[in-house]
Amino acid sequence: MNDELSTIELRAAWLRNKLNQANREYYSLDDPTLLDSDYDRYFQELIDIEQQYPELKNDDSPTQRVGSEPLASFERVAHSSPMLSLNNAIDAIDMQQYDRRIRNLLNKSSSDITYFAEPKFDGLAISLRYINRILVQAATRGDGHAGEQVTENIRTVRSIPLVLSKHAPKNLEVRGEVVMMKRDFNDLNRRQIDSGEKVFANPRNAAAGSLRQLDSKITATRKLSFFAYDLEEFGVESSKIKSQYDLSSCVKEYGFSTSGLSNLVHGLAGIQQFFDHLHKTRSELDYEIDGVVYKVNEIADQQKLGFVSRAPRYAIAYKFAPQEEITRLTDIEIQVGRTGALTPVARLEPVRVGGVVVSNATLHNEDEIIRKQIKIGDYVIVRRAGDVIPEVVRPVLERRANVKDFAMPSSCPECGGSVFKATDESVYRCKSGMRCRAQKAQAIWHFCSRKAMNIDGVGEKLIDQLVENEFIESFADLYELKEEKLITLDRLGQQSAMNICESIFNSRATTFNRFIYALGIRNVGEHTAKDLAFHFKTLEGLKAAVEDTLIEVPDVGPIVAKSIRDYFDDSYNNQVIDRLMRLGVHWRVSEQSIKSNALTKKTFVMTGRLEKLSRDEARYEIECRGGAITGAVSKNVDYVILGFKPGSKLKKANELGIKTLDESEFITLLELNDE
Ligand code: IVH
Repeated sequence: MNDELSTIELRAAWLRNKLNQANREYYSLDDPTLLDSDYDRYFQELIDIEQQYPELKNDDSPTQRVGSEPLASFERVAHSSPMLSLNNAIDAIDMQQYDRRIRNLLNKSSSDITYFAEPKFDGLAISLRYINRILVQAATRGDGHAGEQVTENIRTVRSIPLVLSKHAPKNLEVRGEVVMMKRDFNDLNRRQIDSGEKVFANPRNAAAGSLRQLDSKITATRKLSFFAYDLEEFGVESSKIKSQYDLSSCVKEYGFSTSGLSNLVHGLAGIQQFFDHLHKTRSELDYEIDGVVYKVNEIADQQKLGFVSRAPRYAIAYKFAPQEEITRLTDIEIQVGRTGALTPVARLEPVRVGGVVVSNATLHNEDEIIRKQIKIGDYVIVRRAGDVIPEVVRPVLERRANVKDFAMPSSCPECGGSVFKATDESVYRCKSGMRCRAQKAQAIWHFCSRKAMNIDGVGEKLIDQLVENEFIESFADLYELKEEKLITLDRLGQQSAMNICESIFNSRATTFNRFIYALGIRNVGEHTAKDLAFHFKTLEGLKAAVEDTLIEVPDVGPIVAKSIRDYFDDSYNNQVIDRLMRLGVHWRVSEQSIKSNALTKKTFVMTGRLEKLSRDEARYEIECRGGAITGAVSKNVDYVILGFKPGSKLKKANELGIKTLDESEFITLLELNDE
């Protein structure tokens, strides 16, 4: 090989190593040291080299995460040892019996067993094989003995290392769960809707659908994540791993992400306490879990306990109460939303699902009812996942009897106005706009809500009364409401009327982004409103923007751009906006021109794991306030945010005298500098 090539080869190897290490730091240690901009620069350099010298392309190169040629089918591969399932405990009694059995089998009947407690991830089990520390094969669980080879797809998952850290043994197999984060799931479904593709029922299905793509380029566009929970080493005489706790620390050290919520617990009391805590906080997690897995911590004990048929005796899954139940759908009613959408809602015989009584569930639209083949009178499976709105999954066809077909009404059930269905939409809409009482009340309610004009004391009930009595017709009428008029309403005293008028009056001083959001433009949520305010700076600019200009704003696609244009092309909307301005609604120029505040131009470093915010959320919050995030602590850094186990960056920050913030101080800072 000539000299030039060997220099380039060395450089390529250096780049691969640097990028892989940065990835590991980001995903498993939560403590990146490389600046994003440097990462991008090195990445581009490596792509350039590999393009020019394809012979230097390599399986462990981070450039290989983009997917490759589509496959005709998946190859079946045998697992080195069976991928087992877990026995379940469905309540505290099951768990008590399990713990007693374990104590007896281990001859420790009167002492507490130490268990390693870990969330039960609701995803797909995957086995990853590394040889010489390089990922060579990934397989699904399949029937437990053999699964499908999905290596190309797995390579696109950023939290799966393509190369293990130097601490790892050369050859090993790691098992864990591929999941889709709730946020990525919602983003994906939004994109699917925008492009007229099918919507996934839950993050698990979306993860499965994404991983089972024959075209890994499609998988590369789906954000998947991986949590490691099991490890097998080959050709190692005696492992240094003596407990499940060690195992979890080791896989992390090798470069994998682990749950971060796992912990040791002692005895039955510890089991229940951990379970209750996770059950309570489940909805706040970034990913879905369906229980807790308890594993006897000592590996020696695990070996003593052995296996029962297809599950290990040393582990058990303590499942959360089911989130699906069967009940009867007694009727389908129509609700009219703020934007005039007619939404069919299922009335259900009340049933307890996931700890809450459910008697209504949205059916989204007519297409959904047709697709799911739901009829009035059907027994249906109802699902309620965490804080997610209850959903009708499907009818139980075996129990179908005396059912009636459902048909969308031809006029609006609220105002009797005519109804239309746009050709490219699945929703029917009432044409009456603000002339329809239901739309009017909801639009006004949205206008007053906390994230919009934030008018204290003006809730749904009051607005219903105001609309019912024809005291208000539009947002602008709110600002002309008089105390004398308010006290004529039911149960409203002088003092409350005064307070309400004062909140309305005070709400006139707002911010541009709140105002945009408050208008209730279809498809413009809080984030888009912020982006629009930031991009256009002035109301005049936004009002005048054509669709081509609008799509330059991050996350604004053609559909959103059209909704915005349609909104400002409507003369009624413009009249209301003009009146609002005349009545004194205003925002400060500084907030109008830039999201400027104490965070503007400030540089932050994050170290350790945050509890309430993910790293990406924290970054988003900082960036939309004009701040920046960097990887390394230097004298140019203004704040270091300390998460759990902050590590060496804290020391460095102290040495340089840089201000540190714990998570709650950081959140306070964000709140004080809203938008
Ligand atoms: S340990 C020997 N730990 O649950 C069994 N499994 O119902 C190794 N799962 O197939 C499994 N989270 O896909 C383990 N923290 C966790 C898990 C977990 C989810 C899945 C896994 C397994 C299934 C069994």
